[in-house]
Amino acid sequence: MTRILFQNANLVLADSIREGSLVTEDGKIVDIDAGSHVQADEVLDCQGHHILPGVIDDQVHFREPGLTKKEDLETASRACAAGGVTAFLEMPNTKPPAITIEGVREKEKIAARKSRVNYGFYIGATPDNVSELAQASEVPGIKIFIGSSTGNLLVDQQEALERIFAETTLPICAHCEDESTVRANAERLAGTTNVADHSRIRDENAAVIATTRAVDLARRHQHRFHVLHVSTAAELPLLTHPAPYLTAEICLHHLFFNIDDYARLGSRIQMNPSIKTKADNEGLWQGLLEGTIQVLATDHAPHTLEEKSQPYPQSPSGLPAVENSLALMLDQVNAGRCTLNQVASWMSDAPARIWGMVGKGRIEIGYDADLVVVNMDESRTIRDDQQHSKCRWSPWDGETLWGWPTATFVGGHCVWNQATGFDETFRGSKLRFDHSRGGFWNTSDGIGT
Ligand code: DOR
Repeated sequence: MTRILFQNANLVLADSIREGSLVTEDGKIVDIDAGSHVQADEVLDCQGHHILPGVIDDQVHFREPGLTKKEDLETASRACAAGGVTAFLEMPNTKPPAITIEGVREKEKIAARKSRVNYGFYIGATPDNVSELAQASEVPGIKIFIGSSTGNLLVDQQEALERIFAETTLPICAHCEDESTVRANAERLAGTTNVADHSRIRDENAAVIATTRAVDLARRHQHRFHVLHVSTAAELPLLTHPAPYLTAEICLHHLFFNIDDYARLGSRIQMNPSIKTKADNEGLWQGLLEGTIQVLATDHAPHTLEEKSQPYPQSPSGLPAVENSLALMLDQVNAGRCTLNQVASWMSDAPARIWGMVGKGRIEIGYDADLVVVNMDESRTIRDDQQHSKCRWSPWDGETLWGWPTATFVGGHCVWNQATGFDETFRGSKLRFDHSRGGFWNTSDGIGT
């Protein structure tokens, strides 16, 4: 039995911040109102620091197997640990793609050997793997690329989509960009080498058409559905009436970058869905603050700088973000744009509830001790060559942020500490998903069963 006492911290609870001490025992939170004389094997003085629930990033691309030149589960999970991310849900567009139960189990085996943090893997939909999707279990859900992106996963025929929504019960999430709109725009702009045209090809219309179509499928089939990386303010009205089955996510680059940034950053911010306008940045912030959007994720999608430096459209879409996402949001808290409780809700509690992760996402007695200690008064500058992600660059290179993680704990175990580095021996665990809990709208409290 290992007891750790985190003394004198500011604990970021679900709806308040409490000054006090936290005790973990054998990987779980056992006390959040402890005195300073609690018997413990280890005592950590957290004076002047905050403790948040570890970040749960529900959309990442970690490239293993098959694309390990860009990233692998070791480098990516180290980047997670250094960024305060204690769990990730990884997308199926690896090589081979994870479109069978066996394929998902293979990824879990690699993660068990390599991952520093907790992990889960989506199963990918194809036009003809519905029976595999229907039998899958122990996964967060099904990923559908309704619009194509990196890799060749695509399901955009109505009949195939209807079958997936009708014949499966796992939660579904989707990349929503309308394939015919994108193709028509690409034809119109054929021959362009201007990366800014990426946002004209993958335009607002493409996003709105596909999200409308996906939300309609979810409503008609009453199927649990999560809209990934909403990129336009115009999609928000589709999501404003909370339905028990409907949730949505925004990624950080859609909050922080817009088309004016192509001149400065070029293909570093080439993403699918594309980044949009300044008005969209503002609208998406509003959507988060008002609760229309529940989750903030990264879509961490590393490519090498060499690949990125090819002329558009050969330059691939995707950017790395997992190790800076929390710091970017802590900086926004320091700037007065949002609160620490909101950040914890968007980045930890909401994804845990949406994907039925038992005992995750909160600082509460009985929850797992997946925690991040942060110093809101520390400033650091993001530098390409200091990134742990294998691709070793960041679109935020050169930006100075206030508020950084200083230590990350997974199951009560310190996996990364700013002063001492990584614990190279520890491995994270496979996440458990209890979809019978009913998703975000049915799990406002309690740790589930
Ligand atoms: O820009 C993107 N890149 N968007 C995605 O949805 C996939 C990702 C990747 O895997 O490279």
